[in-house]
Amino acid sequence: MKITKICCIGAGYVGGPTMAVIAQKCPHIQVTVVDLNEQRIKDWNDPNTDNIPIYEPGLSEIVSEARGRNLFFSTEVEKAIDEAQVIFISVNTPTKTYGKGKGMAADLKYIELCARQIAKVAKQNKIVVEKSTLPVRTAEAIKSILDNTGNGVQFQILSNPEFLAEGTAVTDLLNPDRILIGGDTTPEGEEAINALVDVYANWVSKDKILTTNVWSSELSKLTANAFLAQRISSINAMSELCEKTGADVSEVAKAIGMDSRIGPKFLKASVGFGGSCFQKDILNLVYIAKSYGLNEVADYWEQVIIMNDHQKRRFSNKIVQTLYNTVADKKIAFLGWAFKKDTNDTRESAAIYVADDLINEQAKISVYDPKVSRNKMLSDLDYLETRSDEANSKALSIFDNAYEACKSAHAIAILTEWDEFTTYDWQKIYDSMHKPAFLFDGRNILDAKHLESIGFIYKAIGS
Ligand code: NAD
Ligand code: UDX
Repeated sequence: MKITKICCIGAGYVGGPTMAVIAQKCPHIQVTVVDLNEQRIKDWNDPNTDNIPIYEPGLSEIVSEARGRNLFFSTEVEKAIDEAQVIFISVNTPTKTYGKGKGMAADLKYIELCARQIAKVAKQNKIVVEKSTLPVRTAEAIKSILDNTGNGVQFQILSNPEFLAEGTAVTDLLNPDRILIGGDTTPEGEEAINALVDVYANWVSKDKILTTNVWSSELSKLTANAFLAQRISSINAMSELCEKTGADVSEVAKAIGMDSRIGPKFLKASVGFGGSCFQKDILNLVYIAKSYGLNEVADYWEQVIIMNDHQKRRFSNKIVQTLYNTVADKKIAFLGWAFKKDTNDTRESAAIYVADDLINEQAKISVYDPKVSRNKMLSDLDYLETRSDEANSKALSIFDNAYEACKSAHAIAILTEWDEFTTYDWQKIYDSMHKPAFLFDGRNILDAKHLESIGFIYKAIGS
């Protein structure tokens, strides 16, 4: 089977970049990305590709090249489903906020809606690809909906989880470590797997395309995220011990990372991991383990989240303690709000929780982030429902320049590792601040010796 028409449901951080790269690398395939969110689709179609809704280095160039040629963004979900041979489901699967599994399980209501819509519309056989991160055995539920509510056509369900990280999505998609495709071991299942392998083989070498059964593929995605997050919680746990013992966590990370069995990546101590995936996927893993009665497995992985929450709280506590146990009416400047550099995404960003803690202590927060809008920052805080929206907008002032944000601040906190922060004139910033001037580096990106020579009281995580 040769694929010539693909539809992707969900034009978000995964659907948008993934489909843009497929369209760029496969000009013979028509790729249509659909979403219920009209504004999002309007933004993807903005004539100026600098205004597309997701900021990722290199993405606007790819969209410029492929959009209108073989890449389309549309709200006509049913039309796109009807025309496509392959339908990727790339909708959000957030943590449930209600009912059974509240706060732990993945909310699959958007997935189910997609399955029902595909079943209703499909008049020919289709391959349905799970691109969203899903609990192991979700394909079973999707298949049951498709087979029992459809028009008698055949569906093959594949699991093809996405491993891109935000901020490096384009390079991750162009040069993936591996592509994982899970499918049925029947002849029809194998035919569907091969059809999808051929799509990726347009730019990924075949030895990097791994095929497995559906359940291994679904579970591998949760496992990968759990292992990555576990490394961060492990080094963050050590960072606290370093602060007590005089060891330096960056030196410890370097020393252990040179062991080829451990490796150097994902060992950067920080104010805590954020992002839409790690916490959600581990909570989901914990929920799944509990639902099979595997309490030790569940407790083991839950500790990764407990450590991460502790690290965020520890950072805000340290600011309060160091500023003589009170930050009331003091101005604390935040550099960075995004959950990591090179993205405008703020989901689960540590900055939100640190700001919330400090506002509880009646601090005034002034923020600068090169890519996050004022409305986004305020809505992130409002979402926590700790206080009224008015109180949040009084406590948070937002600047479009770091020098302004830091002027007359008592302390600065680095929450995101944006490269530009390392290029600032720190003497100038120091001169404009209240004294003593404190700098809490939640990302360990600045030069301690230089800052201390200026006069800053500099505190990095883990030293
Ligand atoms: P997102 O919220 O950015 O995008 C999801 C989009 O789906 C939204 O625009 C929403 O309007 C749309 N949508 C929801 N239901 C729909 C429906 N029935 N019809 C049409 N559109 C619908 O989410 P995301 O970050 O792209 O994540 C999507 C999935 O990919 C999640 O399961 C996530 O866990 C997984 N994932 C995310 C990342 C990441 O870095 N963000 C990486 C790998 C995997
Ligand atoms: C993650 C996975 O890396 C990716 O494979 C998956 O598809 C989606 O989830 P993402 O959340 O976009 O990607 O970014 P990632 O680079 O993993 O960073 C997540 C968080 O961990 C960020 O807040 C980052 O700052 C933090 N982090 C990362 C650390 O604190 N220390 C590190 O060493 C690495």
